[in-house]
Amino acid sequence: MKKLLTAILMGSAMMATTAEAKTLVAYFTLTGNTEKAAKIVAEETGADLYKIELVTPYPSEYKEQTKLAKKELADGTLPPIKPWPENIGEYDVVFVGSPVWWGTMATPVRTFLASGVLKGKTVIPFVTHGGGGADNSFTDTAKLCEGCNVITDGWSNYSSITFGVGRWAKNNLEKIAK
Ligand SMILES: Cc1cc2nc3c(=O)[nH]c(=O)nc-3n(C[C@H](O)[C@H](O)[C@H](O)COP(=O)(O)O)c2cc1C
Repeated sequence: MKKLLTAILMGSAMMATTAEAKTLVAYFTLTGNTEKAAKIVAEETGADLYKIELVTPYPSEYKEQTKLAKKELADGTLPPIKPWPENIGEYDVVFVGSPVWWGTMATPVRTFLASGVLKGKTVIPFVTHGGGGADNSFTDTAKLCEGCNVITDGWSNYSSITFGVGRWAKNNLEKIAK
Protein backbone atom coordinates (compact mmCIF):
# COMPACT_ATOMS: atom_id res chain seq x y z
CA MET A 1 0.00 0.00 0.00
CA LYS A 2 2.82 2.36 0.97
CA LYS A 3 4.57 1.52 -2.33
CA LEU A 4 1.37 2.20 -4.25
CA LEU A 5 0.92 5.60 -2.59
CA THR A 6 4.54 6.52 -3.32
CA ALA A 7 4.09 5.52 -6.97
CA ILE A 8 0.94 7.64 -7.27
CA LEU A 9 2.64 10.64 -5.66
CA MET A 10 5.69 10.26 -7.91
CA GLY A 11 3.42 10.02 -10.93
CA SER A 12 1.62 13.24 -10.10
CA ALA A 13 4.92 15.02 -9.43
CA MET A 14 6.12 14.00 -12.92
CA MET A 15 2.87 15.17 -14.47
CA ALA A 16 3.30 18.53 -12.77
CA THR A 17 6.81 18.79 -14.23
CA THR A 18 5.79 17.98 -17.78
CA ALA A 19 2.68 20.17 -17.66
CA GLU A 20 4.69 23.30 -16.87
CA ALA A 21 5.84 24.00 -20.41
CA LYS A 22 3.05 24.30 -22.96
CA THR A 23 4.13 21.83 -25.58
CA LEU A 24 3.34 21.18 -29.23
CA VAL A 25 4.36 18.29 -31.45
CA ALA A 26 4.66 19.47 -35.06
CA TYR A 27 5.41 16.85 -37.69
CA PHE A 28 5.39 16.06 -41.36
CA THR A 29 4.91 12.62 -42.82
CA LEU A 30 4.51 11.06 -46.23
CA THR A 31 4.09 7.40 -45.35
CA GLY A 32 3.08 7.48 -41.66
CA ASN A 33 6.34 6.59 -39.89
CA THR A 34 6.99 10.01 -38.39
CA GLU A 35 3.31 10.39 -37.58
CA LYS A 36 3.44 7.21 -35.51
CA ALA A 37 6.36 8.57 -33.46
CA ALA A 38 4.75 12.02 -33.19
CA LYS A 39 1.54 10.58 -31.77
CA ILE A 40 3.48 8.73 -29.09
CA VAL A 41 5.40 11.88 -28.14
CA ALA A 42 2.12 13.80 -27.84
CA GLU A 43 0.43 11.05 -25.84
CA GLU A 44 3.35 10.60 -23.44
CA THR A 45 3.89 14.30 -22.79
CA GLY A 46 0.30 15.56 -22.96
CA ALA A 47 1.30 17.85 -25.84
CA ASP A 48 -0.93 19.06 -28.65
CA LEU A 49 -0.41 17.69 -32.14
CA TYR A 50 -0.01 19.62 -35.39
CA LYS A 51 0.47 17.96 -38.75
CA ILE A 52 2.47 20.07 -41.22
CA GLU A 53 0.73 19.88 -44.59
CA LEU A 54 1.81 21.09 -48.00
CA VAL A 55 -0.33 23.49 -50.01
CA THR A 56 0.53 21.39 -53.08
CA PRO A 57 0.83 17.73 -52.06
CA TYR A 58 3.96 15.79 -52.93
CA PRO A 59 3.83 13.25 -55.80
CA SER A 60 2.79 9.75 -54.74
CA GLU A 61 5.63 7.94 -56.57
CA TYR A 62 8.80 7.42 -54.49
CA LYS A 63 11.08 8.17 -57.45
CA GLU A 64 9.28 11.44 -58.14
CA GLN A 65 9.39 12.33 -54.43
CA THR A 66 13.15 11.88 -54.21
CA LYS A 67 13.69 13.81 -57.45
CA LEU A 68 11.61 16.77 -56.29
CA ALA A 69 13.13 16.80 -52.79
CA LYS A 70 16.63 16.75 -54.28
CA LYS A 71 15.79 19.71 -56.50
CA GLU A 72 14.17 21.68 -53.64
CA LEU A 73 17.21 21.14 -51.44
CA ALA A 74 19.62 22.06 -54.23
CA ASP A 75 17.93 25.34 -55.11
CA GLY A 76 16.80 26.22 -51.57
CA THR A 77 13.07 25.98 -52.33
CA LEU A 78 10.87 26.09 -49.24
CA PRO A 79 7.54 24.62 -50.41
CA PRO A 80 4.51 26.52 -49.04
CA ILE A 81 2.72 24.83 -46.15
CA LYS A 82 -0.84 25.26 -44.88
CA PRO A 83 -1.31 27.62 -41.90
CA TRP A 84 -0.06 26.42 -38.52
CA PRO A 85 -2.34 26.60 -35.45
CA GLU A 86 -3.42 30.16 -34.67
CA ASN A 87 -2.36 29.82 -31.04
CA ILE A 88 1.21 28.71 -31.84
CA GLY A 89 2.57 31.71 -29.92
CA GLU A 90 1.37 30.14 -26.67
CA TYR A 91 3.75 27.17 -26.87
CA ASP A 92 7.08 27.18 -25.02
CA VAL A 93 8.39 23.88 -26.38
CA VAL A 94 7.89 22.46 -29.86
CA PHE A 95 8.93 18.93 -30.79
CA VAL A 96 9.50 18.88 -34.54
CA GLY A 97 9.24 15.52 -36.31
CA SER A 98 10.40 14.82 -39.84
CA PRO A 99 11.37 12.00 -42.15
CA VAL A 100 15.02 12.26 -43.21
CA TRP A 101 15.22 13.45 -46.79
CA TRP A 102 18.62 13.44 -48.44
CA GLY A 103 20.32 13.47 -45.07
CA THR A 104 18.36 16.33 -43.57
CA MET A 105 14.91 17.53 -42.47
CA ALA A 106 12.19 17.18 -45.13
CA THR A 107 11.62 20.36 -47.13
CA PRO A 108 8.10 21.09 -45.72
CA VAL A 109 9.66 20.95 -42.23
CA ARG A 110 12.41 23.28 -43.42
CA THR A 111 9.67 25.75 -44.44
CA PHE A 112 8.23 25.57 -40.92
CA LEU A 113 11.62 25.90 -39.19
CA ALA A 114 12.73 28.83 -41.34
CA SER A 115 9.42 30.71 -41.03
CA GLY A 116 10.45 32.51 -37.83
CA VAL A 117 7.33 31.39 -35.97
CA LEU A 118 9.42 29.32 -33.53
CA LYS A 119 11.70 32.19 -32.49
CA GLY A 120 12.31 32.20 -28.72
CA LYS A 121 10.95 28.67 -28.27
CA THR A 122 12.72 25.48 -27.30
CA VAL A 123 12.74 23.24 -30.38
CA ILE A 124 13.40 19.52 -30.06
CA PRO A 125 13.76 17.60 -33.33
CA PHE A 126 13.15 13.91 -33.98
CA VAL A 127 13.33 11.95 -37.20
CA THR A 128 12.57 8.62 -38.82
CA HIS A 129 14.82 7.41 -41.61
CA GLY A 130 15.39 4.63 -44.12
CA GLY A 131 18.70 3.36 -42.77
CA GLY A 132 20.96 6.41 -43.08
CA GLY A 133 20.34 7.71 -39.57
CA ALA A 134 19.59 11.31 -38.60
CA ASP A 135 22.63 12.51 -40.57
CA ASN A 136 22.55 16.36 -40.62
CA SER A 137 18.94 16.69 -39.48
CA PHE A 138 19.56 18.06 -36.00
CA THR A 139 22.43 20.42 -36.81
CA ASP A 140 20.46 21.72 -39.81
CA THR A 141 17.46 22.33 -37.54
CA ALA A 142 19.65 24.60 -35.41
CA LYS A 143 20.90 26.41 -38.53
CA LEU A 144 17.43 26.92 -39.99
CA CYS A 145 15.57 27.89 -36.84
CA GLU A 146 17.06 31.30 -36.12
CA GLY A 147 16.60 32.57 -32.58
CA CYS A 148 15.36 29.17 -31.38
CA ASN A 149 16.83 27.15 -28.56
CA VAL A 150 17.37 23.91 -30.48
CA ILE A 151 18.18 20.75 -28.55
CA THR A 152 20.43 18.92 -31.00
CA ASP A 153 20.33 15.67 -29.01
CA GLY A 154 17.36 14.54 -31.06
CA TRP A 155 15.71 11.13 -31.35
CA SER A 156 15.96 9.02 -34.48
CA ASN A 157 15.03 5.55 -35.53
CA TYR A 158 14.54 3.41 -38.59
CA SER A 159 11.24 3.43 -40.44
CA SER A 160 8.24 2.82 -38.14
CA ILE A 161 10.28 1.74 -35.10
CA THR A 162 9.28 4.00 -32.21
CA PHE A 163 11.24 2.33 -29.44
CA GLY A 164 12.22 4.79 -26.69
CA VAL A 165 10.64 7.87 -28.23
CA GLY A 166 8.18 8.48 -25.38
CA ARG A 167 10.84 8.19 -22.68
CA TRP A 168 13.21 10.42 -24.67
CA ALA A 169 10.53 13.10 -25.01
CA LYS A 170 9.65 13.03 -21.31
CA ASN A 171 13.33 13.19 -20.31
CA ASN A 172 13.75 16.31 -22.41
CA LEU A 173 10.79 18.04 -20.80
CA GLU A 174 12.02 17.09 -17.34
CA LYS A 175 15.47 18.54 -18.11
CA ILE A 176 13.89 21.79 -19.33
CA ALA A 177 11.74 22.06 -16.20
CA LYS A 178 14.78 21.87 -13.90
C1 LIG B 1 12.38 12.20 -50.73
C2 LIG B 1 12.93 11.16 -49.79
C3 LIG B 1 14.26 11.20 -49.41
C4 LIG B 1 14.76 10.28 -48.47
N1 LIG B 1 16.08 10.38 -48.09
C5 LIG B 1 16.54 9.55 -47.12
C6 LIG B 1 17.88 9.68 -46.62
O1 LIG B 1 18.65 10.55 -47.04
N2 LIG B 1 18.29 8.82 -45.64
C7 LIG B 1 17.46 7.84 -45.14
O2 LIG B 1 17.89 7.10 -44.26
N3 LIG B 1 16.19 7.72 -45.57
C8 LIG B 1 15.69 8.54 -46.53
N4 LIG B 1 14.38 8.42 -46.95
C9 LIG B 1 13.50 7.45 -46.28
C10 LIG B 1 12.62 8.11 -45.20
O3 LIG B 1 13.38 8.96 -44.35
C11 LIG B 1 11.95 7.07 -44.28
O4 LIG B 1 11.26 6.12 -45.04
C12 LIG B 1 11.03 7.72 -43.28
O5 LIG B 1 10.78 6.87 -42.20
C13 LIG B 1 9.69 8.12 -43.90
O6 LIG B 1 8.92 8.78 -42.94
P1 LIG B 1 7.37 9.09 -43.18
O7 LIG B 1 6.67 7.75 -43.27
O8 LIG B 1 6.96 9.84 -41.97
O9 LIG B 1 7.23 9.87 -44.44
C14 LIG B 1 13.89 9.31 -47.90
C15 LIG B 1 12.56 9.25 -48.34
C16 LIG B 1 12.08 10.16 -49.27
C17 LIG B 1 10.62 10.11 -49.69
